Amino acid sequence: MKVLKYIFTIGALTAVVACAQQKPIAQTASIASNSKMDVFISDLMSKMTVEEKIGQLNLLTGGEAITGSTGNSDIEKKVKAGQVGGFFSLSTPKKIRTAQELAVNNTRLKIPLIFGMDVIHGYKTVFPIPLGMAATWDMALIKRTAQIAAEEAAADGINWTFSPMVDVSRDPRWGRFSEGSGEDTFLGSEIAKAMVQGYQGDDLTKINTLMACVKHFALYGAAEAGRDYNTTDMSLVKMYNEYLPPYKAAIDAGAGTVMVSFNDINGTPATANKWLLTDVLRNEWGFKGMVVTDYTGINELTAHGLGDLQQVSALALNAGVDMDMVGEGFLTTLKKSLEEGKVKIEDINRACRYILEAKYKLGLFEDPYKYCNDERAKTKIFTAENLKFAREAATKSFVLLKNQNNLLPLKKSGTIALIGPLADSKVNMPGTWSVSTDLSKAISVKAGLENAVGSNAKIIYAVGSNLVEDAAYQTRATMFGRDIKRDTRPEAVIIKEAVDAANKADVVVAALGESSEMSGESSSRTDIKIPAIQQRLLKALLATGKPVVLVVFDGRPLDLSWENETVPAILNVWFGGTETGNAIADVLFGDVNPSGKLSATFPQNVGQIPIYYSHKNTGRPMQKDEWFKKFTSNYLDVTNEPLYPFGYGLSYTTFDIAAPILDKTTITSGGNITVSTTVKNTGTKDGEEVVQLYIRDLVGSITRPVKELKGFQKIFLKAGESKKVTFTLTENDLKFYNANLDFVAEPGDFKVFVGNSSANVKEADFRLVK
Ligand code: NOJ
Repeated sequence: MKVLKYIFTIGALTAVVACAQQKPIAQTASIASNSKMDVFISDLMSKMTVEEKIGQLNLLTGGEAITGSTGNSDIEKKVKAGQVGGFFSLSTPKKIRTAQELAVNNTRLKIPLIFGMDVIHGYKTVFPIPLGMAATWDMALIKRTAQIAAEEAAADGINWTFSPMVDVSRDPRWGRFSEGSGEDTFLGSEIAKAMVQGYQGDDLTKINTLMACVKHFALYGAAEAGRDYNTTDMSLVKMYNEYLPPYKAAIDAGAGTVMVSFNDINGTPATANKWLLTDVLRNEWGFKGMVVTDYTGINELTAHGLGDLQQVSALALNAGVDMDMVGEGFLTTLKKSLEEGKVKIEDINRACRYILEAKYKLGLFEDPYKYCNDERAKTKIFTAENLKFAREAATKSFVLLKNQNNLLPLKKSGTIALIGPLADSKVNMPGTWSVSTDLSKAISVKAGLENAVGSNAKIIYAVGSNLVEDAAYQTRATMFGRDIKRDTRPEAVIIKEAVDAANKADVVVAALGESSEMSGESSSRTDIKIPAIQQRLLKALLATGKPVVLVVFDGRPLDLSWENETVPAILNVWFGGTETGNAIADVLFGDVNPSGKLSATFPQNVGQIPIYYSHKNTGRPMQKDEWFKKFTSNYLDVTNEPLYPFGYGLSYTTFDIAAPILDKTTITSGGNITVSTTVKNTGTKDGEEVVQLYIRDLVGSITRPVKELKGFQKIFLKAGESKKVTFTLTENDLKFYNANLDFVAEPGDFKVFVGNSSANVKEADFRLVK
C-alpha cells in the first residue's frame, strides 16, 4: 500500500460542482423487492450501449492508497465518458460528491458511481488488527467494531468496504496473517458472519451501513512458503473442509460482494478460475452479488503466463469476474473481444447487472449523494463513544502469554522504566491496513502509561534499540508514515542508556517486537523472531535483575521461544488500534483483566510451520508430552508441541473447567446432545474465560483432524463464582466433506472436549447413530 497524492485533480472537479445537480433515473422504492430491482435494472440496461455496460465494469482508484505498481490516469475524462463504474480509496463527502456529480451530471444515463475503501479494522477510529480482534473471541464486540467502522466510513462518503478478509492461514511467515482471523475454520467463519452483519446491518440502504466484500477468494492465506501472492496447491477435500467455509459463511450472512484473490489455485489463478468463480461460487453456493478482482488482478494473469491483456481479460470475464479493479483490461479490450467472438454479450450483461444491482441495493439510484453529508462527517467520526469502545476492544484482544509469580498486574507507584523502539511510537499503534485514520490521534504506550499513573508513579523512558539492525530493512518495515526514528548512536551506547534507566526503576516494561509494517501486504518474513538487536537489548535488561514485563507487538504469531524461557511476564498486544497505549495501561495495571485467547498457534520455531491444532494424526503419531521416538512423526531437534497452542491465553485469575457432561451418549439423525460443564473462577479476581468445545471423529471414510473447534462461549465470572455452560451439538456439527465432496456425518464414535485452550481439555465420548 503506497500513499500517494490524490490523482484526482480536485481543482478541475470543483468546477463541475457548480453545474446543476441532476438526479439519475429514479428508483421507485428504497427497500425494493428483487422483482422491482430486476425491472429497474432490466429497463436501465435496455437503454445502455455495449460501451456503457463495459464502462460499469471499470473500478478505478481514487489514489488515497495505492497497493500496486500503478494507479489510474485521466480519471475525470473517463468518468464523463461513462467509462467508470466506481472508485475506491477516495473519501470525504466533498470529494465523493464531486466525483459523483461528475458521473451523474455528465453521462447519458446518469448512473451513479459506487465508492469503496479498505475499511479493515475501523475507519478513523481504529480497532485492533483483525488477528487481534479474533483473539477477543467475542462476536458481539467484533460485530460492533464493524458497525462503528461502517458508521464512520459511511459518514465520510463511502458505501462499500473491502472487508472482511477471511483467509485461513497457518503460515506466520505470511505478512497478511495480521489481516485475517487466524488458523481456524470454525472461529474464522463465526467472525466472518459477525463482520458482515456489522457492516451491512439489516438494511443496506441505510446511511450508516456499508456493503461488505469478502476476500480474498480463495485460499490466499495458503501461499507457498508464506510469500505473498504466491501459488497455492491444495486438495479439494482440504479446501472444502478447512479453507472455503469462512468465505461461504460470509456469503451466507449476505455479503454483497466478493473479491478474487491474486494467487494461483491448482494451476489456474483465481482471477481466471471458472471452477472457483462460477461452479463453486455461483452454482454451488448460489452467490448473487458482484465479484471484483483484486488490484490489477486481471493484468497480472499475463505474468502468471496466461496470455496478453486482451486474452486474460476475456478469461477473467468468462471465469466469472464482474468488476476490474484498476487494471482497465475490461475497459480496453472487451469490446474487441466481443467483436472477435472471444466473449459473449451475455457475460458482459451479467457483469454489468451485478454491478448495477449493488448500486441499487445501496439505494444509490434513489439518491447518489446520500452518503455525502458534511455534518455527519463532523459528528460521527472519532466520537468519544467510538474511542471508548476501541479501548475496550483493544484490552480484550491482548493475550497474556506468561505471568510468572503474578508479576502482573503492576502497581501504579514507584518507578517504571519503559524501554523499546515501540514504546514511544504513536504511528505504529493502529497497525497495518489502517489507511484512513489520523495517525496523530493514536495513543503510544508511553502516553498510555503516563495517563494511567499521573503523578502516582514515575515513568522513565529510553529507546534501547533500533527496530532492526539493518537500516535498509528498517526503511522497508516503516513505510506509509509509520516511521520509527533511527538512532545513529552505537548500539552499546543506546543499550547502556536503557540499562541505566532500568537500574533506577522498580520494574521494566519492554515494548518490543514488530513495527506495524512488518506485517500486512507484501510483508512476509522468513525469520519470525523479535529482531536480534531487540533481543540483545532484552538480554541486557534481564541482566539488571529487575523484573521485566515484555509487551510484544506483532502482526503474526512470532517465535518467542527464547523470550518464553527468559522473561517472567509476556503480554502479546498485536497492534491495538487508536487507543493502544491506554488499553495497554489498563491491562498492565490490572484495571482490566486480560481475556484474549490465541486464534493461531505460536510455533517453537519457524521450522515447525505450518503448525496448527487441527492437524491429522498420521500413521505414526507422537503421544502428547513424548519427545523423540525413532520412526514416529517428529523432529530431531524440537518436540511437536507448539510454544503456545491455539485457544491459549492467561488471566490474572484462574479458572477450572470441569469434565464435560452429556445428556445422552448417542446422537441420532436430526437429533442433538447437550454438552455441559461447570466453570469456576478459582482465583481472587473477576475475569472472563473462553470455554472452548472441540470434537474428534474417531473413524471416518477419510482421515479426520485430531481436534476441531465446534463451539465457544466467553463468560464473565466474579472471583469464586461458578457457572454452568451448555453447548448443543447437532448432526450438522459432525458433518464434513468426504472424498466425493458430499457433506456428510458418518455414524460412529466421537470424542468431545471442553477446555480453555486446544491443549488443555477434558473429554467425553458419544456416538452418532443413523
Ligand atoms: C490489494 C489487497 O490485496 C486488497 O486486500 C485490497 O482490498 C486492495 N488492494 C485494494 O486496496
